Amino acid sequence: MSADAADDLDVVILGGGSGGYACALRAAELGLKVALVEKGRLGGTCLHVGCIPTKALLHAAEVADVARHGEQFGVRSTLEGVDMPRVNAYKDGVVARLYKGLQGLVKAAKIDYVEGEGRLDGPGAVVVGDRRLTARNVVLATGSQPRSLPGLDIGGRIMTSEQALAIDHVPDRVVVLGGGVIGVEFASVFASFGSAVTVVEALPRLVAAEDEALSKQLERAFRKRKITVRTGARFASATQDADTVTVTLESGDTLEAELLLVAVGRGPVTAGLGYEEAGVPLDRGFVPTDERLRTGVPGVYAVGDIVPGLQLAHRGFAQGIFVAEQIAGLEPTPIDETGIPRVTYCDPEVASVGLTEAQAREVHGDVQTYEYNLGGNGKSQILGTQGFVKVVRVADGPVVGVHMVGARMGEQIGEGQLIVNWEAFPEDVAALVHAHPTQNESLGEAHLALAGKPLHAHA
Ligand code: NAI
Repeated sequence: MSADAADDLDVVILGGGSGGYACALRAAELGLKVALVEKGRLGGTCLHVGCIPTKALLHAAEVADVARHGEQFGVRSTLEGVDMPRVNAYKDGVVARLYKGLQGLVKAAKIDYVEGEGRLDGPGAVVVGDRRLTARNVVLATGSQPRSLPGLDIGGRIMTSEQALAIDHVPDRVVVLGGGVIGVEFASVFASFGSAVTVVEALPRLVAAEDEALSKQLERAFRKRKITVRTGARFASATQDADTVTVTLESGDTLEAELLLVAVGRGPVTAGLGYEEAGVPLDRGFVPTDERLRTGVPGVYAVGDIVPGLQLAHRGFAQGIFVAEQIAGLEPTPIDETGIPRVTYCDPEVASVGLTEAQAREVHGDVQTYEYNLGGNGKSQILGTQGFVKVVRVADGPVVGVHMVGARMGEQIGEGQLIVNWEAFPEDVAALVHAHPTQNESLGEAHLALAGKPLHAHA
């Protein structure tokens, strides 16, 4: 083993996904000497099998719906079909361009990019093949992978999102197990492409982490789109043969499909990587940290999906940047998890930031809410979408939650996050002029109403 002339490294980062590469880029920018270890492809889940390719599929799905529903707008169009190899070529092209750009950034930053599977070898060292990298600091950023259920083996017609991203035709019938974020996004894609879709969710509602009002509206919209939603339905078993997968629920009901998509959550990738041997405590496989992302072992930090909390790429970026700044001695402000925006890109989109109404009641007691219906929003009417903006404020206090559902409403989360994170009062937002006609106006209108001066709404 070569004891690299790398004793002068400031930081070794294990994992080149959103959390890891953001940490590497920021650390290099701050003048630190950085090595970044990646066993697969730089960019990780988000770029290669997560955010980017799925959102490309969702865009293709929107194009299919536009073609299918052209008549609604007086444009004669029909959907002739979906050519999955070409959809995949489009999606892969998007990923390839971003991948190339990212590789260029890492190279230009003079980061020592080490290909191979790394393993923590004590607090300040990472072994990759026959190299041993030592540094003052190590950042664990090994990410997550799809989980399955006991007795449910992935293979053949039973897939996770990773295999579903590469299918070469549109399946006739799909059962989606799990009505969380991945489940509803894929259900939306398949339904737009023409599959008959059934979503099976154990909890009483879809996207159960969201405000209940959003779940209700999403379920209503899905039913209108002819997506079958079975909430409160627990999976029991699945069998498959050459043509069909048969899913049995605990109720005894069976569902047949061409494909079963398993979307029951993602688990941390931490096993067998030397973490526990180095003294890093694990909790059900996750790496607990304090608010400064320290693991408890001096000089060892963790970022991204292995840290309990929201499994979101932008949280990973923020944590990676935070740790780089922490190592560089900049004393950054800890990240407030409740201020992190969440967007689910199904049709209609679901977007939120801050506390749900139920959480706000628990934390603050007396709260006021307002739901502004997109029926009163010109641009939403033009698009033909339904939904609402729900704002939650502390009684006579600041806005603590913004929750939205409707086509394209994910694009509105930027203002929502400023309002919540800057602890704005509805009266402050009401004084700001929102451009007309935009969907953004619906945010302005909701705050006008909460401030007691509704325009196109009732108080
Ligand atoms: P999830 O935790 O969002 O949803 C999993 C769902 O499966 C839950 O609703 C759960 O109740 C259900 N479930 C579990 N066991 C079940 C059973 N036996 N029978 C029926 N239902 C069962 O996890 P998901 O959707 O797999 O996503 C993983 C992570 O990836 C999430 O944390 C999510 O935040 C992230 N992600 C984010 C996206 C975004 O920001 N747009 C897109 C895709 C994923």
